Amino acid sequence: MTENVCVDIVEKLPVPFGLVRYGVAPDHPEVKNVINSFTHVARDKRCRYFGNLDVGNDVKIVDLLRSYHAVVLAYGAQANRKLNVSGETCDGVISASDFVGWYNGFPQNANLHLNLNCNTAVVLGHGNVALDVARMLLTPAQLLEKTDVAAHALDALKQSSIKRIIIAGRRGPLQVAFTIKELREMVRLPGSRPDLDTNDFIGVPEKISELPRQRKRLIELLCKTALEDPGNNETARRQAAQREWNLKFLHSPVEFESKIIEGVNSLVAVKFEQNRLDGNKAIRTGHTMSIPCGLAIKSVGYQSVSIDPDIPFDVHKGIIPNLCGRVVTPKDSATGLTSGIANTSHVVSKHYRVIPGLYCSGWIKTGPVGVILTTVNDALETAKSIYDDISGNVLQWDSRSRNGDVMDQFQKKLVTFSDWMRIDNYEILNGKVSGKPREKIVNVEKMLDVAFGDNKASK
Ligand SMILES: Cc1cc2nc3c(=O)[nH]c(=O)nc-3n(C[C@H](O)[C@H](O)[C@H](O)COP(=O)(O)OP(=O)(O)OC[C@H]3O[C@@H](n4cnc5c(N)ncnc54)[C@H](O)[C@@H]3O)c2cc1C
Ligand SMILES: NC(=O)c1ccc[n+]([C@@H]2O[C@H](COP(=O)([O-])OP(=O)(O)OC[C@H]3O[C@@H](n4cnc5c(N)ncnc54)[C@H](OP(=O)(O)O)[C@@H]3O)[C@@H](O)[C@H]2O)c1
Repeated sequence: MTENVCVDIVEKLPVPFGLVRYGVAPDHPEVKNVINSFTHVARDKRCRYFGNLDVGNDVKIVDLLRSYHAVVLAYGAQANRKLNVSGETCDGVISASDFVGWYNGFPQNANLHLNLNCNTAVVLGHGNVALDVARMLLTPAQLLEKTDVAAHALDALKQSSIKRIIIAGRRGPLQVAFTIKELREMVRLPGSRPDLDTNDFIGVPEKISELPRQRKRLIELLCKTALEDPGNNETARRQAAQREWNLKFLHSPVEFESKIIEGVNSLVAVKFEQNRLDGNKAIRTGHTMSIPCGLAIKSVGYQSVSIDPDIPFDVHKGIIPNLCGRVVTPKDSATGLTSGIANTSHVVSKHYRVIPGLYCSGWIKTGPVGVILTTVNDALETAKSIYDDISGNVLQWDSRSRNGDVMDQFQKKLVTFSDWMRIDNYEILNGKVSGKPREKIVNVEKMLDVAFGDNKASK
């Protein structure tokens, strides 16, 4: 039944692959192999790729709905969760997403200003992104030379003076959000030593037996790192290390302290309020303390945003409301979906109706949690909903065929998959010069020049 289905993939940037290209750390090249599977799909003759098209701005979703039987929103979570702490705008405070974008060559972050000319950096948050960020700051720059880290980042990291990273979380060791592979990498990181406070682990080993298997192994490694003698060789390695990292627990940031240095309002410390735990919940104690530092990186999670006011968006959960990937809207709400599309929607409960033909997948559907495999599995659920709707004639398969070719109707030139392959080849060739898998182009104009083989980025 689905052998005649054709899929167009639309992307804001000229280049595909989202966070696999711009999130996954350069020293995790094996994770990026999933690009081969994506490429295989994109090369199917029933699939077309259109980069350089900003949905919401260049084209409204309602117009896509008029032209396709089904539209799947899968635009991820590109904003940062807010901390709402005073002093957040001073020089020296940045978000993890900006820092990650900077070392991964994300065009918007290529010129990020950050202070690596300091002894101590504080990373806020205990998730995998926090560990990625800390690892990238601690890894000896020569070990990054053969990765696809952006050239500007590699140059800056080579000059970095940072010797100590404090990774601060608001809850305890049992509540960390990172996973064992990433922790193990930190413990073994060349040139760095862990510096954990044994007092933070009082009572923790006793809880290990109650944990599910994955968590058990993670907390065992944490306890082992904090509490056990690592043996002579590892002790010698740690003593010789030039850099160190520390996990601080039960600390919530309450202020970024700054002062004017050479005319610039610069970060000098992060002030924390200490917490205690009530079950799994962090409760403020009123005790505060400050950690002097020149750089603070907020890594407290990503956030999705609405890209088109016509489309329902749950601002509290930061997702598009959906049932198994089918976009739903509160029954009584007026969406901007006009042209009869909303009129054909059907009621699925007392509170919601489904907007036929509109689906979502990935972080915009679930919130910004989960690895690539989780996201792929989640996509299968949405695909199944579409399949079921085709089988159940919900999609009115025959009544709305492709409306001419909507992709021919834009003023700007769109990047096809063959155009992307030109960018890909260019980056790989440029990387070869310095022994890297690729040297990413970090400027959208330049991407378009290479994609089209000339300077004519507009029609
Ligand atoms: C820093 C970081 C590191 C990670 N590292 C790993 C890892 O090592 N291993 C792992 O398994 N998982 C990792 N993950 C998780 C993984 O990246 C996510 O699970 C996955 O990328 C989410 O996929 P997605 O399609 O929902 O979003 P994304 O990958 O963000 O893709 C969304 C795409 O939509 C595009 N887009 C946005 N707005 C528009 C618009 N208006 N119009 C058109 N296109 C638009 C974006 O440009 C992007 O290409 C990491 C996540 C982060 C944040
Ligand atoms: N190598 C990998 O596989 C890899 C790499 C990177 C990312 N990822 C995945 O990508 C997803 C996103 O990762 P992430 O690290 O951005 O998010 P995350 O896993 O949700 O971690 C966010 C961290 O920020 C903390 N936090 C949130 N709000 C806070 C606040 N107001 N004050 C203080 N701390 C706050 C959280 O603490 P609480 O727990 O107390 O809320 C948590 O420690 C995760 O699923 C992650 O596993 C995977």
